[in-house]
Amino acid sequence: MAYACTQCGSVSTKWQGQCRDCQAWDTLQEAPAVSQNPNRSLSSVSVSWETLQQESGLTSDARFFSGIVEFDRVVGGGLTAGSTVLVGGDPGIGKSTLLLQILAGLSRGVPVAYLSGEEALDQIRARAKRLGLEQATVALAVGVHLNDVMPLLLGNACPKVVVVDSIQTMRTDSTSGLPGSVNQIRACAHELICAAKAKGFVLFLVSHVTKEGTIAGPKVLEHMVDTVLYFEGERGHSFRLLRTVKNRFGPVDEIGVFGMSAQGLQEIANPSELFLSQGSKNPVAGSCIFAGIEGTRPLFVEIQALVSASTLGTPRRSVVGWDSSRLAMVLAVLETRGRFSVAQKDVFLNVVGGVKLGETAVDLAAAVALISSVQKKPLSRSLFVFGELGLGGEIRLVPRMDARLREGAKLGLTQTLAPAQAPDFDGVDVVPFHHISEVVDWFKQNERL
Ligand code: TYD
Ligand code: MG
Repeated sequence: MAYACTQCGSVSTKWQGQCRDCQAWDTLQEAPAVSQNPNRSLSSVSVSWETLQQESGLTSDARFFSGIVEFDRVVGGGLTAGSTVLVGGDPGIGKSTLLLQILAGLSRGVPVAYLSGEEALDQIRARAKRLGLEQATVALAVGVHLNDVMPLLLGNACPKVVVVDSIQTMRTDSTSGLPGSVNQIRACAHELICAAKAKGFVLFLVSHVTKEGTIAGPKVLEHMVDTVLYFEGERGHSFRLLRTVKNRFGPVDEIGVFGMSAQGLQEIANPSELFLSQGSKNPVAGSCIFAGIEGTRPLFVEIQALVSASTLGTPRRSVVGWDSSRLAMVLAVLETRGRFSVAQKDVFLNVVGGVKLGETAVDLAAAVALISSVQKKPLSRSLFVFGELGLGGEIRLVPRMDARLREGAKLGLTQTLAPAQAPDFDGVDVVPFHHISEVVDWFKQNERL
């Protein structure tokens, strides 16, 4: 006799009060006899060796464009037929709105369908009306059981792009567990993906990120799909980022930037301007402009640091929008290699606008913001910074320095603090640095920055 957890699907041979895998209480149930291959009907195709040159039945190089430039770029230049795209994000972040807009865009070229397990038809129609998309040819269906919805996808009138919103609400008889459990999510996704491959339609799976971000969230699906997009943003801010985490058809780390409005998501073609306009207008000590690159595109954001005397035994280190262990490293390098100490001080670092930065090129900008805060010397608003910091205190070059300089010039910025290897650029005064101690000296030498 076997027992299976209804939440995570883990199987054990004896009954226990708590699941040893997901730690949930009272979720083990006698495992019903599950047929070994629930997807027999879909997967029972004969397998044989083929060659690279052989023509496939599907036109796999066909690409569909939504006309929403930010989105088409993020998926690597349009959607590939037969591919599966996972769209993850917090509940309420705007996934359904985004996908309805994308479908409406795609519907000008190909038949599209929206399958909802969360909302009633009238709710979806009301949303479309609010977005001004009520005239778009989007087929709608509401259902939560794969038995009910599969005929729509496998029939002859099957659309070319299908959104399933959300995978957590879908249910199948081929495995046990409650809707939303790992077992169910995996089995439903598998069946839907098989259908997408068989019929050659693009499948969007919408998936909520749970608070913990792990159990039953999009993580369990990432390996099954071709493209993983995360839709993110801070609740208090009105813009949203669509980020590529995995893409079999294009580059990763690409981001699309959208602004939220009553009429839905608006594309933001020049995000640097938006992020910088949100920052402080007058120079403030501790604030500097970081020249970042996200995916293929430059993204300039303001970085703010605040260093203040601590009343705590262990001073506070707090970071929003960047990696806290990276901040710890920058502080250690500043202290040891730059002889610039912030011991016994609280340190706060904030990336303005709620953007999350992952690049190592932030190091120098963070260090500059910290020094500026401690020395109470505001940096000019026409200065930008980029560069990686090594543990020896050396300033290392970072990728795409010319693109950063070009974007800086485009934004009307005139000076940059950069690694020594940075190229010259017309209109931008490049101040080159080899070592962090030179940066500390630069602050000492310059009364006005
Ligand atoms: P919704 O798309 O339903 O989020 P999700 O599917 O991720 O749970 O959006 C949440 C709410 O935000 C919804 O009430 C609509 C509103 N909203 C706007 O008003 N404008 C926008 O541009 C977006 C994206 C959402
Ligand atoms: Mg939704």
